[in-house]
Amino acid sequence: MLKTLDRPDCELVEKAQEAAARAYAPYSRFAVGAAVRSKSGAIYAAANLENASSGLTICAEAAALSLANSAGDPDIDAIAVVGFSFTDGAAGASRVIAPCGSCRQLIAEAAQRANGNVRVICCNGELSCIAVSTIAELLPNAFGPENLAVSRKWPALQEELRACAERLIAIRKKQ
Ligand code: THU
Repeated sequence: MLKTLDRPDCELVEKAQEAAARAYAPYSRFAVGAAVRSKSGAIYAAANLENASSGLTICAEAAALSLANSAGDPDIDAIAVVGFSFTDGAAGASRVIAPCGSCRQLIAEAAQRANGNVRVICCNGELSCIAVSTIAELLPNAFGPENLAVSRKWPALQEELRACAERLIAIRKKQ
């Protein structure tokens, strides 16, 4: 139940529930909202976005993680997920949902990038059922960047990316 969570986690869950209202889910009729909290305290919330070409559907968790990344604030420590079927009456909002396999993989890499674990707060639509776990519990022995023979780590590459982008922007401003 919502009352069992502390104030910041309550707020995260509320943002996820509100985001679910903005789902585009004409095919599954299943709305999902996700809200990530970065270590800065900022919250990024998003909904699932479906497509007639089913494989192109974007899950709410992926969209929320992408928002945090695009805001330059990718180091997250928690994610709340709220999902419900919106054409099945009360029954559709009673079962707690958990991130799908692809989203677990995305959350695992976000955790690795933030040098920590990520708490995952899974909720049913009416927030009467809440299951709190960590991404390490939801996806043990995850495949990750350390499995790939990358000789240069992201922080160093990111510096190179920023320098390159700055050069390109400076060229554009001179034109
Ligand atoms: N969905 C999510 O947004 N996140 C998940 O972790 C599970 C599934 C969405 C995708 C699709 O729009 C709908 O829920 C039904 O699969």
